Order: sequence, then C-alpha cells, then structure tokens
Amino acid sequence: MQIHNSYISDEIRSENKTYNDNFLRKIGLINFKNVKGSVDSTDWELRGFNVFETVWLKNIDRSMSFLKDIGINTEDYDLLDIGSGNGIACIYFYLNYKFRKVTGVEICEDLNKQSLLFSEIFSKNMNIDISNLNHVSSNILDYKLEDKKYILFFFNSVKFEILEKFINKNIDFLNKNKCIFLLINDHCINEITSYCKLIKRDSFYNISVLSFDYKLKNDSFVRN
Ligand SMILES: C[S@@+](CC[C@H](N)C(=O)[O-])C[C@H]1O[C@@H](n2cnc3c(N)ncnc32)[C@H](O)[C@@H]1O
Repeated sequence: MQIHNSYISDEIRSENKTYNDNFLRKIGLINFKNVKGSVDSTDWELRGFNVFETVWLKNIDRSMSFLKDIGINTEDYDLLDIGSGNGIACIYFYLNYKFRKVTGVEICEDLNKQSLLFSEIFSKNMNIDISNLNHVSSNILDYKLEDKKYILFFFNSVKFEILEKFINKNIDFLNKNKCIFLLINDHCINEITSYCKLIKRDSFYNISVLSFDYKLKNDSFVRN
C-alpha cells in the first residue's frame, strides 16, 4: 500500500514555481496570460475531469531520471500527455528529452489553441523545428492509441475511473508495446497497479513510473 505525502513545504513550492517561471522566461512565454478555457466545466467534478494547472517541471525531470535508471531509451517511444493544458509540459519534454514524437491531448479547445500558439512562439524564439510536437483537441476517452511504444504522462487530468476507462480501451496496445506510465501526483497509485507494475516511486513528491511490461497472472506479476 503506497501512502500519499500531503506535506510539501512552502519553500519547496516556491523553488518549483521559480523553476517553472525561469523556463517560461527562457522560451519567451513568461509574459503570456493563461486562458481559463471556455469549456463549461460545471459538471466536470461529476464527470471526473480536473481543471488546468501546469505541473512542476522539475517533477518531469524527477520522473525522467527514473527512466534513465532503468535503462529506457526514450528515443524509441512517443510521449503522450494525457490532458495537456496549454502545452508547456509538452514543450518542456520536447526541448529537454528525445522522443519519436510528443503529443498533448486536451479536451478544452481554448487551451489546445493556446498550446499551438505557445509552440509556435517557442519554435521561433529557440529556433527549434517543432514538426514532431503535436497538440490534439479531444476528450481522452475518444482518443485511441496507435500500435506504438508510448510513454504516457499523467498529471492531475482526470479521476482514476476515467483513466481506467482509457486504459481498458487501449489495453491491448499498452501491453503489446510494453508502454510506460509517468504519474505525477499519483493519487491513483494503489488502483493503477492492477494494470501495470510499479517500477520506481518517489514517495516525497508522489511520483511513480509504471510499466505494462508485466501481466497479472494468478495474483502475481509475470513479465510479458
Ligand atoms: C492539471 S492539467 C495538466 C496540464 C499539463 N499536462 C501539465 O502537466 O502541465 C489537466 C488538464 O487535463 C484536461 N482534461 C481534463 N479532463 C480531460 C479529458 N477527459 N480529456 C482530455 N483532457 C482533459 C484539463 O482541461 C486540464 O487542462
């Protein structure tokens, strides 16, 4: 049973906010206001959807260091951000790590549009080709994975019951391609381990890396 750490000091929060701001400054987006999204979110609580906030970008580095520790070569994978907001996390992945492709899926059209604009500004300011950086406007439940190796990034976008529907819909390809989950603020860590195996966890920051490289057989995991 994994325990959620709810105590993170103001000092750590402030350090992480400064790190995010410095990144936005570096890519030329510090002065842009976030759109709130025009989607009517009054029933989101009931539907199990969460509203937008940007992840602490340092938590991306923390989760990616786990992949390095276990010898995953990210160049073989597509990165998919489940609920990508204004796309800053995708841009951070794209700039700092190597994937075949980075894709963000976001239900709110305004945020999706902002992602496209932010990516253009990033590309121009940093002189970086963004042909492998994509932003799609869709409910994650309507998004079908392809038969490819994915690293799935998940930060506070939907409740576990919705994530579970997404997993069940795509379970064949997730297993076949031995996909990997990066969970940040992993409230669902105890539930998700019915589908994939926990490889590493940072129990202070509530960050987990899980792999579909295993199958549940007779109540214990065996490697696919
Ligand atoms: C907490 S934000 C995370 C943004 C970004 N991934 C990051 O880490 O900075 C979660 C996002 O998920 C989106 N979202 C919520 N429900 C969704 C759904 N069913 N399908 C796609 N996106 C969803 C919200 O609009 C929000 O922008």
